[in-house]
Amino acid sequence: MGVLGLGENALFLLSFINMTLTEKIIDVSNVISWSYLYEVLFFQIHLCTESENGLVTLVTNHPLLLAVISALGDTSLGNVKFAIDTLVALCGDQMGLNAVFSNQCTTAMQNVMAKSDSARFNVYELIVKVSLLGDMALGMVSNSGLLDSLTAEVTTGDILTQLNALELLTPLALSRGGMNLLLEAGVISKLQYLLSLAETDPMAALLMPGLIKFFGNMAFSRPHKMVEEFSFVILMVLRVASGKLDLGDTTLQTVAIETVAHICSTPEGKLALGKFKVEMDEVLDVLGSMMRTAPTDQRVRVMEALTQLFYLQVDNRTEELLQMLELWWAGVGGVNLEKITAVAQQPFPDIHCAALSLLNALASMPWGQRLIFSEPGLIEYILNRSTETEKQGKECKWNIVGTLLHSQTSAFTYPEGFVVKLTKYFNEGPFYVETVVEVALEGEQ
Ligand SMILES: *[C@@H]1O[C@H](CO)[C@@H](O)[C@H](O)[C@H]1NC(C)=O
Ligand SMILES: *[C@@H]1O[C@H](CO)[C@@H](O)[C@H](O)[C@H]1NC(C)=O
Repeated sequence: MGVLGLGENALFLLSFINMTLTEKIIDVSNVISWSYLYEVLFFQIHLCTESENGLVTLVTNHPLLLAVISALGDTSLGNVKFAIDTLVALCGDQMGLNAVFSNQCTTAMQNVMAKSDSARFNVYELIVKVSLLGDMALGMVSNSGLLDSLTAEVTTGDILTQLNALELLTPLALSRGGMNLLLEAGVISKLQYLLSLAETDPMAALLMPGLIKFFGNMAFSRPHKMVEEFSFVILMVLRVASGKLDLGDTTLQTVAIETVAHICSTPEGKLALGKFKVEMDEVLDVLGSMMRTAPTDQRVRVMEALTQLFYLQVDNRTEELLQMLELWWAGVGGVNLEKITAVAQQPFPDIHCAALSLLNALASMPWGQRLIFSEPGLIEYILNRSTETEKQGKECKWNIVGTLLHSQTSAFTYPEGFVVKLTKYFNEGPFYVETVVEVALEGEQ
């Protein structure tokens, strides 16, 4: 069946569904269920987006396009998903974008939005996905006025609606164009205002997890801007992370810690947060005490956060960053390589690998290498393959070996003979098993 055939097929199915019962020669509901017919219809329509011909069919077939849009208000989640996927795929093409955001289609979307809360949010989900396709798409969505409705929901509506709207907007904060739009629309300042209310208003406090994540994404993509223009927000996130600001929700601290780690996963983010020395020291101190006292699952998360904080790509090893991170490490209350090594030797795979990943982060920096080589038994442990029985553990160790091997500088030279051992281990790969013959020979020596 040709692609055009598919489009015609879909159109036929559609017109069939739209016929009144008396017009139908047979009553299809006796034969197959309506939902099945819809499923077939959508599958065929979605196939159209996969080729140029199919796309043209869909774009020029207004009844078909409008049917897809009206499916955004469907009660079947599967149909909604098909509709969203199809429309997003269409908008990847300039012609499709123009068609989907034509006046007629925009009006159809508004009609869907009027149906129910969930229908309205289906349309929002669509427009956010389209906005993320690029500047052209973002401009189109912005001109349609639909994005304004979404941003308005964040500050009006009930708390659940606000949270849902905030969650939808969060990915937009990751794109430069999306964020500029939110800035221009005054959304960011409204959100900042909500954040400032959270300390005193319990209702606003419910928005905190969403707000922290939103601003976390913003700080991740534009760390300098955040420090310069929204330092109040950064301060608040750091204070929640360190526990200095307690809003009565224990999960909030975890969200804030993960947000700090996320921001610090880029060198620019590290430098930005480094400007808040006092607050950052408080966060590091708390991370250290959590490492000592928290339950296992929380310790795994703390180590993952520390890994993001300390991981630095070889290209980014500037004096400034290296010095700052060395000070940070000293500030992680009560945690040293002896502790990390002990944790790494625990038999639980998740905590074991989290510790190895943290060692890997440290292994790329001269001061970290110095610590690793001066910790009694640590480098022997790293080079000992028999401590690992699981695939993941083997890979984690091999990563450390690779990092040590490829990031040596004159700032710290490895003790005699280690480069040879590291090279051998690295070249043999993560899963190499010493043969029995070798073991026997070693025993004889
Ligand atoms: C980190 O390295 C990347 C790639 O070399 C570079 O583009 C970026 O500017 C560096 N950032 C910092 C803060 O050094
Ligand atoms: C390597 O680790 C295994 C298992 O933990 C241990 O029995 C063995 O003594 C270690 N070998 C060396 C050379 O440290």
